[in-house]
Amino acid sequence: MKLKTIGLDNALLKSLKDYIDTFENKENNIISILHYAQDIFGYLPPELQVYIARLTNLPASRINGIVTFYSFFNERKMGKFKVDVCLGTACFVKGSQEIMDAFRQELKVDLDGLSEDGLFNVNSIRCVGACGIGPVVRVNNKIYGHVKAEDVKEIIKTHRQEAKEEES
Ligand code: FES
Repeated sequence: MKLKTIGLDNALLKSLKDYIDTFENKENNIISILHYAQDIFGYLPPELQVYIARLTNLPASRINGIVTFYSFFNERKMGKFKVDVCLGTACFVKGSQEIMDAFRQELKVDLDGLSEDGLFNVNSIRCVGACGIGPVVRVNNKIYGHVKAEDVKEIIKTHRQEAKEEES
């Protein structure tokens, strides 16, 4: 029976299958398998989870349960920069929704929160314990405090520059 792998790269699927085949006990190694899959595909979309379920003889619901349980697995395509805008109460009353809107608009994010250039994911988060410097924005591990909507372009520019420098 043909597995539903529409849109997934065949060479990467083959590589994943070869990796899975190296394990006698696939169930015991499911975390390693999922890590490997995420490393080569960049994320774990539902069709890939189904593929892994079939090759490991595990229920797809089990695979999905693992993927959604651990924060290091992503079902959505991720950009290089994870932008978290705090919408916790303290930040919200200081205007963090406006900041969120500015990021979404400036980066033209899709419904999954991925920017048009594929570099950024924009998400909302709840209090990160830095209310005193709110509104707070976190980009990967860097925290920005007292952020205003007009700072958003500069934050984006800084990280785009960082990505460019890493490429060159
Ligand atoms: S509410 Fe945003 S850091 Fe606490």
